[in-house]
Amino acid sequence: MPHQVTLQPSGRQFTALDDETVLEAALRENLALPYGCRNGACGTCKGKVLSGTVDYGAHQAETLTDTDKARGLALFCTAKPTSDLVIEAKEIGATQNIPVKTLPCRVEKMEKLAADVMALWLKLPSSERLQFLPGQYIDFMLKDGKRRSFSLANVPEEDALLELHIRHVPGGFFTDQVFGAMKVKDIVRINGPLGSFFLRESDKPIVFLAGGTGFAPIKSILSHAFHHGGSRQMALYWGAKSLADLYLAALPAQWQSEHGNFSFIPVLSEPGQQDQWSGRTGLVHRAVLADFADLSGYEVYACGAPPMIEAAKREFMAKGLPEAAFYSDSFAFQ
Ligand SMILES: Cc1cc2nc3c(=O)[nH]c(=O)nc-3n(C[C@H](O)[C@H](O)[C@H](O)COP(=O)(O)OP(=O)(O)OC[C@H]3O[C@@H](n4cnc5c(N)ncnc54)[C@H](O)[C@@H]3O)c2cc1C
Ligand code: FES
Repeated sequence: MPHQVTLQPSGRQFTALDDETVLEAALRENLALPYGCRNGACGTCKGKVLSGTVDYGAHQAETLTDTDKARGLALFCTAKPTSDLVIEAKEIGATQNIPVKTLPCRVEKMEKLAADVMALWLKLPSSERLQFLPGQYIDFMLKDGKRRSFSLANVPEEDALLELHIRHVPGGFFTDQVFGAMKVKDIVRINGPLGSFFLRESDKPIVFLAGGTGFAPIKSILSHAFHHGGSRQMALYWGAKSLADLYLAALPAQWQSEHGNFSFIPVLSEPGQQDQWSGRTGLVHRAVLADFADLSGYEVYACGAPPMIEAAKREFMAKGLPEAAFYSDSFAFQ
């Protein structure tokens, strides 16, 4: 049975059809709510149910705990209404009128950037464009309804080819194909743009935190920011195991030399002898903690593996970062 959902504070309403999650219904009715993984893993869509009941759906226990549920919280990407609802959620105007498309694309170019990182460039049909905000991602639509998410690394201004940085997950259904059978001229199907990881308007200084291929959406955000100028202070902390895993380090190093408002701090967790590394070492989010005594005046944009995102959020908030100033794209897997 359909249920009516009312958003607070805006008062806007939409209808959730049978078997639809709150997020699916909102997006279908062109109301953009914050989200990332869409499978109950990252927590970006967490919000408050002010009245009514939901079936919480399948989610990771640590992403929505029993304490969260007792506080009236739910993950809107998995929660299905079982009555009419009033929920508290911030609408995201910026993504509202961007069409989400399913398109065939041709693999135009492939380049191994590191032992386990492949850059893919996809060409859209000549009559199509993909409008997106820097930081958003696309899904590859695979056989049997499987989807795999990857962030766009190019900027919207240069959208002739979509650029993706794909880390090989050994034994992974899709990334094994990328590192094995996939070749130039293959046709793939994508759906996007998706997600709410994009730069918000503000004057606050920003700390970007990237782990491995978490650099991909940050490359898009920063390239776009430099393209449009501005004087906002920005620092990028990019962490990887060894120097070779910082697969495009020359690019942020170049940005640092060109832009007085930007600094780049590469951090290696397991530098090898061959790296001859005299730079920062350890966990990348710990390098931020070491450099900032008080994060209360900052915004953080973090992207990478879920454990890094969780630790960064918890430990940065302990250093004064307001929860609402932590934006993240957690590379949760399906
Ligand atoms: C919004 C979003 C954006 C993303 N953007 C990127 C990106 O730009 N670049 C990128 O490299 N990745 C990105 N990811 C992660 C990427 O989607 C997964 O790594 C990918 O789906 C793995 O697909 P697969 O079919 O090869 O592995 P699967 O067959 O799905 O998994 C195989 C096994 O590996 C485990 N696994 C899968 N992925 C990972 C992982 N990332 N880390 C650790 N274990 C894993 C699974 O639990 C399973 O046991 C993103 C994820 C999300 C949600
Ligand atoms: S947990 Fe809902 S979008 Fe990730």
